[in-house]
Formats: sequence, C-alpha cells, structure tokens
Amino acid sequence: MKLAIVLGTRPEIIKMSPIIRECEKRGMQYYILHTGQHYSYEMDRIFFDQLKLPEVKYKLNVGSGFHGKQTGKMLAEIEEILIKDRPDIVLVQGDTNTVLAGALAASKLHIKVGHVEAGLRSFDRAMPEETNRVVTDHISDYLFAPTETSKNDLLNEGIPDEKIFVTGNTVVDSAYQNLEISKKSCNVLEELELREKEYFIITAHRAENVDDKKRLNGILKGLSQIYEELKLPVIFPAHPRTVKMIKEFRFEVPEGTRLIEPLGYLEFLQLLNGAKLILTDSGGVQEESCILKVPCVTLRDNTERPETIDVGANIIAGTGDKIIASVQKMINSSLNWINPYGNGNSGELILGSLE
Ligand code: UD1
Ligand code: UDP
Repeated sequence: MKLAIVLGTRPEIIKMSPIIRECEKRGMQYYILHTGQHYSYEMDRIFFDQLKLPEVKYKLNVGSGFHGKQTGKMLAEIEEILIKDRPDIVLVQGDTNTVLAGALAASKLHIKVGHVEAGLRSFDRAMPEETNRVVTDHISDYLFAPTETSKNDLLNEGIPDEKIFVTGNTVVDSAYQNLEISKKSCNVLEELELREKEYFIITAHRAENVDDKKRLNGILKGLSQIYEELKLPVIFPAHPRTVKMIKEFRFEVPEGTRLIEPLGYLEFLQLLNGAKLILTDSGGVQEESCILKVPCVTLRDNTERPETIDVGANIIAGTGDKIIASVQKMINSSLNWINPYGNGNSGELILGSLE
C-alpha cells in the first residue's frame, strides 16, 4: 500500500505529523506532497524543523490568492503528480483549500481518499472551510472522525457507517508528543518576561473576522477591556493575514496587548500551557486549550468543535461586547473537564484502520 500525504498549511503540518511518524515507524511506503499554500518560514518550514519531519517529495508553490485561483492551481498540479506517482490512498487533514484540492484530484483519478478530522460541522456555509469539509467528506472513502459527535454528523448526511472510523484527533498525539520536548528545548515565558498563569493569549486569523473591519475592531476593543479590568498582559502571536489587515484598517494595537510574530509550535504549546486563558478563532487552538486544561473563549458565533463547549472548556463569545463577560466567566470556571479528543494514539488508529 502506497500513501500520499497532501498538506499545505500550518495546522495540517502539525496534525499530520503523528501520521507521518507512524508511517516511518511502520516502514510504510509513502510520500508528502506540499501545496505551498503556506510558505513564510514561521508558517511552514519551522514546523518541519521543530517536529523533525522528513523532506517533502513534491513541493508546489501555489501561494496565496482568491479561492478559485488558489484551489484550481493546486488541483491541476496535484493531479499531474498523482498521475506520475500514483498512490493507493491520498490522505488529507482538516478543512483548508489544500484539503479540497487534494481530495478532489484523487477522487477524479479513482484513487481512494482518506479524510483525517472528518465530520466537523459549524453549519455555517459562509465559512470557506465548511464548504471544504462537506465536499471532502462526501468524496472520501475513509472518514476518520475525531468523536462520536462528528461521526453522527456524517451519518446524518447519509454517509455509510462502514466508511467512518472514530479515532480521536491527531492534535492530541501531537500535543502529548511535543509538550515535554518543548519544556526541554525552550523557555518562552522567560524570553517574554511572563509569569505562569499571569497572562492571556489571543490568536485570530479567520477571514470572516480579520477581513471584516467591524469584527476585527470588536476583537481589539475586547482586548483593551481585558487589560483595563484584569491588568494582565495579552500576548498576540499574529497570523500574517491579521497583521496585514490591522495595517490596512490603520488600527492601533491596544495598551496591554503585545503583537508578536507567529511562534514555532514548541514555543506556542509552552505559551498556551502557561496561560491563564486563551482567546481564539482557531480550530486547532480550541482543541489544544481543551487538551492542556486552559480555558478558552472563542471569538466566533459558532464552532465545529462543540465537544469543547459541552465539557465546559470553551465558550462562544463572538467579536463584540460579550468578550469581556466571557473571559470573566471562564477564568472562574473549574478546570476538571475531560478531553474529548482521545488519548494520543490517533495516528496509530488511523494507520491501523488503513492497513
Ligand atoms: C488558511 C485556511 C484556514 C486555516 C488557516 C491556518 C483556507 C480557505 N483557509 O487560512 O482554514 O485555518 O490557513 O492558518 O484554506 N500569508 C503569508 N504567509 C503565508 C501564508 C499566508 O503572509 O505563509 C498571508 C497572505 O497575505 C495571504 C493570507 O495570509 O493572502 C491568507 O493566507 P491563506 O492561505 O489564503 O489563508 P489563511 O488565512 O492562512
Ligand atoms: N500555532 C503555532 N504558532 C502560533 C499559533 C498557532 O504553532 O503562533 C499552532 C497551534 O498550536 C495549532 C495550529 O498552529 O496547532 C493552529 O493553526 P491555525 O490557528 O493557523 O489554524 P486552524 O487550526 O484554525 O485551522
């Protein structure tokens, strides 16, 4: 059996890393195809270096652009590679344009598609990611759902039971495999002059938040209120999209908030682990905060990770006046929830099912 692992963005590299490690361990025949959707050092290469991942066999340079152009370019170029170097199964992870292009290219060539992190639904079709999730799930042959909730969402859409495997989420494998390494290899709290549980973190990059002047302004206002009321620093490792939009809208970063470059995974895990609370619109970060027992305030109107809300680790705050009240509520909540995303053996379960 030959696998092609298609990836292209920061979260895909991180969440595919346990699967890549497992392929190496089992001596499987596989290759990595990188679309180049993310390309800046701190959004791409740094993760290969820190996670000690093998070199990619095929590297496209698709880069940024409108959805159609970006996805179309990937589709054409992935297809060429899959014809030349035909695998038995293409594996994709998550909900980006890279995932859609990889799954579509394979499906049209009658190559089996495995979707890691299948069945997540925000039920909000305004999100580009929701379209990518739905289409990818419906053209996949093996659907690796992280939880029973995601499995049920797939069943409700008519996807046959025999295609679905509940495996937990590889984000847990990745966090467990790297937290100890991170403790030994860096000391980001000292570098940033922070004390454990005496700071907040924020990440934001969703198109519907940061490309929207009112919503981005609402988030910055929320950060200003947090500092005013709680007097603790707010660390903001910012995605390049967000930095670009803050400049474009000529917004000021509020007092108490420190806008910094995106961090490496090891540094980010450590910073997250030591935080009092995290505010985010990221999918992966909602899961990681739940795994590391750090309360989360989600800066969106919905989430495709309802398990984090159900266990009491997360709250939906939107991007306006509810932010400060949500922070107040979550910093006083108990931290004894159970992580719903598995015990860190998802990579093993996924490859086991495929074999
Ligand atoms: C993409 C995914 C999103 C995922 C996120 C992970 C889609 C539709 N969106 O969003 O689901 O949560 O990745 O981070 O696939 N840029 C750089 N350097 C880079 C990459 C991007 O400067 O390496 C800047 C460019 O200005 C670019 C912008 O970020 O225009 C957006 O990049 P893009 O890949 O289109 O979307 P993301 O917001 O990263
Ligand atoms: N992350 C990181 N450095 C940062 C911010 C996030 O390494 O400065 C990691 C984080 O630990 C998580 C992943 O990036 O594993 C999430 O990626 P992102 O928020 O870009 O995408 P999403 O999960 O929303 O698709």
